[in-house]
Amino acid sequence: MAKTEDYRLGEFTFPRGWFMIATSEDINQPKPLAVRFFGRDFALYRGRATGRVVLLDAYCPHMKTHLAAENDTSYVIIDGGGTNIDGDGIRCPYHAWRFGPDGQCDDIPYHEGPIPKTACVKSWPVTESMGAIWVWHDPENGDPEWDHPSLPQWDDESWVQWKFDDLGVLNQHPQEIIDNICDYGHLSPIHGSTVERYENEFSGYKATQRQCGPHRTLVGDDGVSPILHTDTTYHGPGVLISYLTGYYDSILMITHTPIEDGSVHVWHGLLVKSPSGKDKASVEDTIAAGQFQAASKHAFAQDFEVWVNKAACLNGLFLPSDGPFMKARIWYKQFYNPKARKQEFLDKCEGVYVPKGAIAYTEQ
Ligand code: FES
Ligand SMILES: [Fe+2]
Repeated sequence: MAKTEDYRLGEFTFPRGWFMIATSEDINQPKPLAVRFFGRDFALYRGRATGRVVLLDAYCPHMKTHLAAENDTSYVIIDGGGTNIDGDGIRCPYHAWRFGPDGQCDDIPYHEGPIPKTACVKSWPVTESMGAIWVWHDPENGDPEWDHPSLPQWDDESWVQWKFDDLGVLNQHPQEIIDNICDYGHLSPIHGSTVERYENEFSGYKATQRQCGPHRTLVGDDGVSPILHTDTTYHGPGVLISYLTGYYDSILMITHTPIEDGSVHVWHGLLVKSPSGKDKASVEDTIAAGQFQAASKHAFAQDFEVWVNKAACLNGLFLPSDGPFMKARIWYKQFYNPKARKQEFLDKCEGVYVPKGAIAYTEQ
């Protein structure tokens, strides 16, 4: 599998940004969850005292036991009622050291006297929103540069919330997914779109694609294809949010999070404005929204099917009538390099781009 270095993205193996690491449902269980992203292992759990979400580096500083790996035999877990989550902290199954949500060890049952400050694991900035758990990942350990993903429609009863499709692991470098944001030429052969107007815009941490036209995939049960408008933005390197108007008003979210250098975990969800137009979505609305999410998932599967088997595109044979792939790749580099160098990349990519021969979206 091609790696970050092969794409010459920058100094860091894994990019800076907000990334989805689980669904809320995944951690609605008594035990902590062992997860692996960015080439490292974590313990993820919901604190039993307050319900807050905690993400810690997985390995106990005492003797490197995994804090969240499967264990049914330790008395820490048996006596804990089937879990080693203790309040908002977690106890190591091996010698029962307890770590608070800040990652600091705050109890060693057999030890008297002060606990060394070095008895700690890294606690990561996490938050929960829209049925997902998000981590701010920054190789420089800086504070979040932009807000975590959230949408006001999520809490609006006239919208039907998504249930995530967990699409599992894709063994491709995320660069191959990012390329899609400016892939004008695939819209017709892959998605059956007759693109009437199209443009890309790069600005700061956002990369946007706007396009419209009839569509053969995102249609209703009756197969009718109204003009589909999509306004799609990457909010940083791992979270794509797309506003769709056509058959139903809806908001698509696709997230991808690096696992190793060259593989990602992918999720998909679709928020749908109640098809009946009622203030509060009905059971029928929920069913129709679910069917539309399935159609949206199919549209994404059309991309996915190609990605699964393709070779790494390290030097593409790009045409002027293709989308602005090289601009998107420069935009993406900002997340793989020190924050101090961000402007250098933005100076080379910010702006609006229309492929040769296409009509700009904003041109009426
Ligand atoms: S290895 Fe974790 S408490 Fe000993
Ligand atoms: Fe696509």
